[in-house]
Amino acid sequence: MIKNAIVPVAGLGTRLLPATKSQPKEMLPVAKKPIVQYVVEELAASGVREILFITGRGKSSIENHFDHDPNLLASLNSTSKEELIEELEFEKLKTHFLYTRQSVQRGLGDAILCGEPFVGHDPFTVALGDSIIGLQGQSRICARMSEVYEQHQAAAVIAVEPVSDEQVSLYGVVKPETDGDVFTIGDLVEKPPAGKAPSNLAIVGRYVFAPVIFDMIRHVKPDKRGEIQLTEAIRMLCETGRRVMGVKLAPGEHRYDIGNYQSYFETFIEFALADPQHGPRLRERLKKLLERD
Ligand code: UTP
Repeated sequence: MIKNAIVPVAGLGTRLLPATKSQPKEMLPVAKKPIVQYVVEELAASGVREILFITGRGKSSIENHFDHDPNLLASLNSTSKEELIEELEFEKLKTHFLYTRQSVQRGLGDAILCGEPFVGHDPFTVALGDSIIGLQGQSRICARMSEVYEQHQAAAVIAVEPVSDEQVSLYGVVKPETDGDVFTIGDLVEKPPAGKAPSNLAIVGRYVFAPVIFDMIRHVKPDKRGEIQLTEAIRMLCETGRRVMGVKLAPGEHRYDIGNYQSYFETFIEFALADPQHGPRLRERLKKLLERD
């Protein structure tokens, strides 16, 4: 089982302005929890024990969120709000957090490279801090990817999900060389133009890598926007004959991408409706609102 994970959270989140002007997009709530808490809980449930956050300026609330706060606990106890203490259960996760900064936002590949001293010679998981997998973050995808990594002695394992033709140009897309839910990847394209995609299998923000990925990232040239694309580094793995495997999300493991308002709104409503305490009343309220239109 892979014990180390990198969670990049340094992006500027400009597509979610103004909400992200002075707070990280990864801290926006989806129903009761900030997005990044779902990501951390998913990793912890997959056996990850050390998480390195790649942060940036204005992201210190992430560090505060995962820090144990004895004053808050004492206040809840002394004001007879004990029932709220269970909302802080996640503080007891058996996961250790580390933080480093990406000073200039030079893309996802560059963010991952900041984690090189942390992982050393071990394989590691990467989970994007703005993407939740599965309703309420219930997914075993990282544990399955870890098994595929070991079984196939791969250099990289990438989680993918089929998307519609309209969505395909929003994501990195893989070119499968074999069939099945676990398959070999021959190539990848970042945000292919409509009609030019090698498949409809989009990369969903969960990866397992051998440390060789860092050598590849170092060779990637910045794109037109000055960004070092992770997809380019994975392409180099394919080109140099390394084994790159794809794993499809299982039914129910849909990827919720929070990077734009349309999907953020949709995700919030779906998660809030699934909340056992507040969901039923919200459903009634929504029905009334929709009938009024
Ligand atoms: P995005 O591709 O959504 O980029 O990042 P962004 O900069 O956050 O958002 P926009 O385009 O300005 O709206 C995907 C993930 O990679 C991280 C982000 O924090 C997010 O979790 N990321 C991106 C970095 O850590 N560093 C970067 O330079 C870019």
